[in-house]
Amino acid sequence: MADKKAQLIIEGAAPIELPVYSGTLGPDVVDVRSLTAEGIFTFDPGFMATSSCESKITFIDGDKGVLLHRGYPIEQLAEKANFLETCFLLLKGELPNAEEKQKFESTIKNHTMVHEQLKSFFNGFRRDAHPMAIMCGVVGALSAFYHDSLDINDPHHREISAIRLIAKMPTLAAMVYKYSIGQPMMYPRNDLSYSENFLHMMFNTPCDEKKISPILARAMDRIFVLHADHEQNASTSTVRLAGSSGANPFACIAAGIAALWGPAHGGANEAVLRMLDEIGDVSNIEKFVAKAKDKDDPFKLMGFGHRVYKNFDPRAKVMKQTCDEVLSELGINDPQLELAMKLEEIARTDPYFIERNLYPNVDFYSGIILKAIGIPTEMFTVIFATGRTPGWIAHWNEMISGPYKIGRPRQLYTGHSQRDYPSK
Ligand code: SDX
Repeated sequence: MADKKAQLIIEGAAPIELPVYSGTLGPDVVDVRSLTAEGIFTFDPGFMATSSCESKITFIDGDKGVLLHRGYPIEQLAEKANFLETCFLLLKGELPNAEEKQKFESTIKNHTMVHEQLKSFFNGFRRDAHPMAIMCGVVGALSAFYHDSLDINDPHHREISAIRLIAKMPTLAAMVYKYSIGQPMMYPRNDLSYSENFLHMMFNTPCDEKKISPILARAMDRIFVLHADHEQNASTSTVRLAGSSGANPFACIAAGIAALWGPAHGGANEAVLRMLDEIGDVSNIEKFVAKAKDKDDPFKLMGFGHRVYKNFDPRAKVMKQTCDEVLSELGINDPQLELAMKLEEIARTDPYFIERNLYPNVDFYSGIILKAIGIPTEMFTVIFATGRTPGWIAHWNEMISGPYKIGRPRQLYTGHSQRDYPSK
């Protein structure tokens, strides 16, 4: 039901009345759907001012640096919830009680293995293939193994697909890493927690199964929580658009992984570490900040800026605190952390960054923690994809479980008007 009305007045035409809706939080939206019948489209490349859907999952206030998952602030979830509790919250809308938590954890554990046949998919890739290339391939291929749960209109099929994807992403991610270093792939273990299990599959071998450090497991879990969802970002919007055609959930998540890969999005965490490597020393910071400000130079300060946050990304704050905790608990003095902090300090005092509200985002400090955990740089975006899977699935499920239409944007056409093929 519209809360207010808007009027669109175009010269020479009668005013068009448009409904305006208010959400629980955030800006009002103008419903422009009736414009098609008036022969008019809106124009919003990059969707700077477009709401693609109604959602109850995550809310971001970019001006205040607020991120809520089902109403809970990310700072509180990072401190008090683990990743599987956050997955349950995103999927079901409420935090699990003790019984629900135990049941969800054991259900996930019972789906962590992948079909043995899937291992042969890896052999088609070069050992030095980018891990995200392999993830796109093997996650999309999962649909070939689950013909029993591909009816997207069946809530039980949607539920088991969500479980399978959340449970298997860490297994696949670790398999990708093991394949790249030529070590045997490790099977998941049901006696370990989600994040312990991931680190076990990443770093243990059949000849040597070390106990997983609780410090590293907690840091890994925290990183997954901080990446779990983020409203209608590029990869989540890709998942929704793919899902709107009726594609199966595995194909939709593979599409999300592909969209996340770009350095402007989830690929930024890998790009931040490479940028810090390239800067090398505090004495070079000014030169790189100047490059970032130079309109003729495509270089951007990776890990800085955000389409929505015009204040601190709350995840970056928690990530920085986690960085300090993990490095001090491990007794690591990583010069790249000092370099990153100095870069942040210099950038944040520069008018170019201040005027454009460019703050560190989730990707700025995450790589330093991942490096301390032992994750190689090229695996960083795979970690992001693993953490983001519950968010992607929650948005896909929210769309499919209600009325939806296939996403089909229109355009402003400025090409040739009709012309005839030249006669010979
Ligand atoms: C993620 O959407 C999400 O929620 C994404 C994400 C999630 O959880 O899903 O939060 C994850 O993708 C975080 C962002 C990671 N990407 C990077 O760190 C890459 C570096 N950042 C930029 O590419 C950029 O800031 C974006 C892509 C993140 C945002 O781009 P926008 O919203 O299109 O903003 P813009 O490019 O129009 O920038 C506005 C101005 C421009 O200058 P002017 O044209 O106004 O002179 O700020 C400048 C930009 O050139 N600018 C930067 C900059 N980011 C923006 N200049 C230098 N360095 C940067 N990093």
